[in-house]
Amino acid sequence: MANPILQILSGETLSTPPIWFMRQAGRHLPEYLKVRETAKDFIDFCFSPDKAAEVTLQPIDRYDMDAAILFADILLIPIGLGRDVRFEKGVGPVLDPITPMEISKLTLQGAADRISPVYETVSKVRARLDQSKALIGFCGGPWTVATYMIEGKGSPTKETAKRFAYENPEAMADLLEALVKSSADYLIEQSKAGADVLKIFESWAEGLSPDLFDRLVLNPTRDIIDRIRAAGINKPIIGFPRGAGLNAIRYAHDTGITAIAAGTQMPLSDFRATLPDQMPVQGNLDPLALRIGGKVLRRAVDEVLREAQGGPHIFNLGHGVTPDVKIENVKAVVAHIRGGEPNYV
Ligand code: CP3
Repeated sequence: MANPILQILSGETLSTPPIWFMRQAGRHLPEYLKVRETAKDFIDFCFSPDKAAEVTLQPIDRYDMDAAILFADILLIPIGLGRDVRFEKGVGPVLDPITPMEISKLTLQGAADRISPVYETVSKVRARLDQSKALIGFCGGPWTVATYMIEGKGSPTKETAKRFAYENPEAMADLLEALVKSSADYLIEQSKAGADVLKIFESWAEGLSPDLFDRLVLNPTRDIIDRIRAAGINKPIIGFPRGAGLNAIRYAHDTGITAIAAGTQMPLSDFRATLPDQMPVQGNLDPLALRIGGKVLRRAVDEVLREAQGGPHIFNLGHGVTPDVKIENVKAVVAHIRGGEPNYV
């Protein structure tokens, strides 16, 4: 049976692009909130395979998306490495900031095994998902995960993490190595459990000098992909170096990714011209246009479709769905790109 996401990722161009949205399973869906209420906290939720599988499938049932993305989080890897991670209401993730001295104490041995409920979620979802739909597994990019481990929370500038990289280059290399090894194992296990596609979320790739970008993002990503390929896994891998600017060109050519996800600010046609021939591109509807809806959204969808022409394209957002997004508008985008009558509100 045809699977449009896998067709695109093998280099085919389709007149109707397949579609899924980052954070498609989340707080904008009442059925998600209902399941969420039954979990002790967000991490417990991620480690409950029945619940996590159920919410992974919700956007497929409601919107007929072409891909399901595993319900989990990029910050489960630090847990596998022995760090404490909490999600606080209204704050987001909170970790104890790691010091250079603590890096040698990370529990690298068995890190991916300690978060094994995730693989059970993957196999439960794959068993229930139609063959025409792709299941996407993922991890965070080593740099993005490192920023949370070093800063202890989300930070607008990442200055503390960047200073750490400049001032403690050896400790930083050790931390990235631990993240590369554990993240590669994590993706390998997800693949073995039934993930069809793997994605690396490097959400904080912005604002890095080219030299730092290569050291913190490009080389570690290439190392993850080399490990996955050395394990005999040939599944497509999507890289998402969000906000990387022109550094994304080297990333596309030198990491071994199959396809690249573009953030909101990327002009897709110009971007495509810089990529390896026929590399599939994913993106990049402005999440704010999705929140606004109406004519603004209709025009923004048309613009992405126009910009993406001329090569393999997976329709997506430039970043994740926010809790205030209206269900009708997500439905309208799906209808629009499939040539139906969209009801934007
Ligand atoms: O995309 C999906 O639907 C799949 C599941 C998924 C989640 N997080 C679930 C989640 C994925 C792929 C992620 C990745 C992730 N997690 C990233 C990279 C992508 C990005 O958005 O840039 C990052 C940076 C994180 C770390 C993280 N997790 C933050 C900063 C937060 C808090 C922000 C918020 O919206 O509250 C989370 C929590 C989180 N991860 C939620 C979901 C659905 C919200 C939790 C809730 O239900 O309250």
